[in-house]
Amino acid sequence: MPTLLRIDASAQLEERSLTRHLTGIFTGTFLANAPKSLVITRDVGLNPIPAIDQEFIQAAFTPLEEREAWMNERLALSDELIEEVEAADILVMGAPMYNYGIPTALKGWIDQVARIGKTFSFDLARGDTPIEPILSGKRLVVLSARGEFGFGQGGVRAHLNALDLGLAACAHYFGVAPGHVETIAIEYQEFKDDRHRASVVTAEARTRDLATQLAITVAQAV
Ligand SMILES: Cc1cc2nc3c(=O)[nH]c(=O)nc-3n(C[C@H](O)[C@H](O)[C@H](O)COP(=O)(O)O)c2cc1C
Repeated sequence: MPTLLRIDASAQLEERSLTRHLTGIFTGTFLANAPKSLVITRDVGLNPIPAIDQEFIQAAFTPLEEREAWMNERLALSDELIEEVEAADILVMGAPMYNYGIPTALKGWIDQVARIGKTFSFDLARGDTPIEPILSGKRLVVLSARGEFGFGQGGVRAHLNALDLGLAACAHYFGVAPGHVETIAIEYQEFKDDRHRASVVTAEARTRDLATQLAITVAQAV
């Protein structure tokens, strides 16, 4: 069954969030074109994921057979989040730009999903590239919104865009190869002018097109 994992990271509620608006369009269009799909929803914006801490790191780096009960408890949420990623063919992320980067809520999710022995392996026998992803074959759709503008390639603020760079850098932990990340972003939100309205219309149309195309591709492949 084609499976879509929808992750929302905006701290704003549905009616005030542009990224939730886009993930809603994506999910609705995807289901319309692949009605037998399963949608898993994970709302880290409204239900934040706890930050990783010393206990989490100790538990994650203790071999499975040596883990104490508290370690398994400490990793339970991470296990659940990873299972959702494993089940998914496509991950669609509503990812607002906060302070030029990834919202804390979404970074918290990434920190729990990037796990040694679960989503990546580490072996110094591989020389200078010891990390290898364990998952593969998934697609990532980043649906973003920004208050300012010019964050795309060649744009006036491209050098400030730590959001797209950060998500692309971590995509291998979710089983997504470099060429399989698609990003659609609404810009000019803080200007609330015609440029913003045009950006919303363009992003909505691109989101519908991409959801249709991916639904057909995934439904045929599964
Ligand atoms: C805490 C916070 C930080 C933000 N930082 C930036 C920023 O660095 N650059 C920018 O262009 N917009 C920034 N914005 C504007 C948001 O990217 C914009 O409001 C976007 O629409 C938020 O997504 P949402 O509508 O889904 O909540 C920020 C907004 C908030 C609330």
